[in-house]
Amino acid sequence: MSTHLNSTCHFIAAWLRSPLKMGAALPSSKLLADAMAQQVNISNEGAVVELGAGTGVVTQALLDSGITPDKLLVIEREKQLHAFLQENFPDLQILCADALELENVLSSAGVQKVNAIVSSLPFLSMPDAVRRGIQEQMVKSIGNEGIIIQFTYGLQSPINTNELEAYGLVGKRVKFVLLNVPPAHVWVYNKGN
Ligand SMILES: C[S@@+](CC[C@H](N)C(=O)[O-])C[C@H]1O[C@@H](n2cnc3c(N)ncnc32)[C@H](O)[C@@H]1O
Repeated sequence: MSTHLNSTCHFIAAWLRSPLKMGAALPSSKLLADAMAQQVNISNEGAVVELGAGTGVVTQALLDSGITPDKLLVIEREKQLHAFLQENFPDLQILCADALELENVLSSAGVQKVNAIVSSLPFLSMPDAVRRGIQEQMVKSIGNEGIIIQFTYGLQSPINTNELEAYGLVGKRVKFVLLNVPPAHVWVYNKGN
């Protein structure tokens, strides 16, 4: 079986186990993954933290964009996908953890500064309290200088206007990727600098 087919099968199997927790039936396209990775300024200081890596399409795009393995921390909650990622990216630090524990996870991993959080988390299918709990930690973790990169299948910002104001964030839709199932928008958030 080709690597691509193998990873797609793993993804579909995870989706069949828990569709809402996966948020998508298929991995992101390479075009979407590249669009996410291109938002990271690799010359900025700090770690790049990927949330919800799935079978690693965005992970690969981040590496291809020039981010070195020592700068990348990957987080995936689903045990079988985590094992798949570890097998396929043996040089990376890949943690099996819930993004709801983000601050603790970063502190245990010794991450002091975050350049960018690159998130594929399925905010649209999460209960509001969980989504907010994760977003609050993302906002704290980026400090004043980091950014959050998030894709969404929705037409609106995945962090709504009231939440943006409460978090002190400014958001911008930077890319629409038609060639993805379904088509997706990439948003970038920062603290207004
Ligand atoms: C839409 S998939 C994206 C996968 C991959 N990044 C891609 O673009 O193909 C969302 C991923 O987030 C993971 N996930 C969902 N909730 C999570 C959480 N609270 N903490 C960590 N990972 C989570 C799921 O297991 C799934 O692998």
